[in-house]
Amino acid sequence: MPGFGNHFATEALEGALPNGRNSPQHVPYGLYAEQLSGTAFTAPRVENHRSWLYRLRPTADHLPYRPYSRQTLLRTGPFTEVPPTPNRLRWDPMPMPVEPTDFVDGLVSYCGNGDPASAIGLGVHIYAANRSMEDRAFYSADGELLIVPQQGRLRIMTEMGVIDVQPEQIVVIPRGLRFSVKLLDREVRGYVCENYGALFRLPDLGPIGSNGLANPRDFEAPKAWFEDRDQDFEIVQKYCGSLWTTTLKHSPFDVVAWHGNLTPYRYDLRRFNTVNTVSFDHPDPSIFTVLTSPTDTPGTANCDFVIFPPRWMVAEDTFRPPWFHRNVMSEYMGLIHGAYDAKAGGFAPGGASLHNCMSGHGPDQASYDGAVRAELAPHKIENTMAFMFESRFPFQPTRFALETPLCQLDYDDCWSGFRKAQLPLPNTSLGDAKA
Ligand SMILES: [Fe+2]
Repeated sequence: MPGFGNHFATEALEGALPNGRNSPQHVPYGLYAEQLSGTAFTAPRVENHRSWLYRLRPTADHLPYRPYSRQTLLRTGPFTEVPPTPNRLRWDPMPMPVEPTDFVDGLVSYCGNGDPASAIGLGVHIYAANRSMEDRAFYSADGELLIVPQQGRLRIMTEMGVIDVQPEQIVVIPRGLRFSVKLLDREVRGYVCENYGALFRLPDLGPIGSNGLANPRDFEAPKAWFEDRDQDFEIVQKYCGSLWTTTLKHSPFDVVAWHGNLTPYRYDLRRFNTVNTVSFDHPDPSIFTVLTSPTDTPGTANCDFVIFPPRWMVAEDTFRPPWFHRNVMSEYMGLIHGAYDAKAGGFAPGGASLHNCMSGHGPDQASYDGAVRAELAPHKIENTMAFMFESRFPFQPTRFALETPLCQLDYDDCWSGFRKAQLPLPNTSLGDAKA
């Protein structure tokens, strides 16, 4: 878990973890020692993430991968299917599939930036599925996966253990780690950030101090778990944008023990310690950052994962919803449940919006009118959880995102009714200007 300073050691069979050495000549039970790295070997110690896996067979034992034959709507940077658009975009929720569809085949890309081959940028996908992955696993060689369930519970079986996750929790799956998604509810839907850049980690807290926002103790890694199952098992991998497949003669989930600091992990967004103003003005939304993927430019993220959780509003003499703004960073937003305080309608759970670099946006007319009339007594925003993937790189939509009927062609209308500010006198300021 990047930035958390945690190092884990776990075994599903007593005595399976080697003692004192990572790769001894004889591993207990004849297991194979295998390192999974999330950073370059020579990354600085504070950045360096890797784990040692002790398994029934080495991962290397597989036949060649073949191109995946099924058509999917999963896309990868560089996102060049359609020309970039500066327009503000918003989408209705993705409908649930009609045909049996699992997590992998249910992934649909909406937008992204950068390029996994250059290790910058991210892809944004929505999954909608109604079938568990049976005897097949998936991994992305292009990036780590931040999964944000919006509807339905998932059981994610990974090589390093099992993680159950539900809406208002998130899971991060390291690049390359194989996993299967089982459905614990009939239909599931959610968002995925495929991060091609630096690993997500906790943001620095600066003057906030040593506590606050997402606290390290609330990030949970799974315990070692394995299955000794010899039967055909499909592995689908995503590599430089394309899907490939091969078949093993056994389950890939045969890691009996592991140790290290590269792990899948879960975090419950309801544990986020929200920090906000207690005097006036509306802090920048970066105050709600859960995880950040930095770039080489300090404070300028490849991706910030930001949430808008329930919270008290107490600011005095302040326009309390998100203000009007144009942002050098680009913003993809989703809604897990409830309503977002800058939009009176049109932004539904499971839907999404995109405001790219320098696009003017902010509250719609109804939200604005309500906010300027509101009595500024303390009140709590409740029953909501919105989030944002914010990036220094503009998001380029996919062809699907622009052409789907889910795309709201009337989105601009929500800002079309604002009255002009009324000045007390005719505007003569130009004539009065002095050099
Ligand atoms: Fe914004």
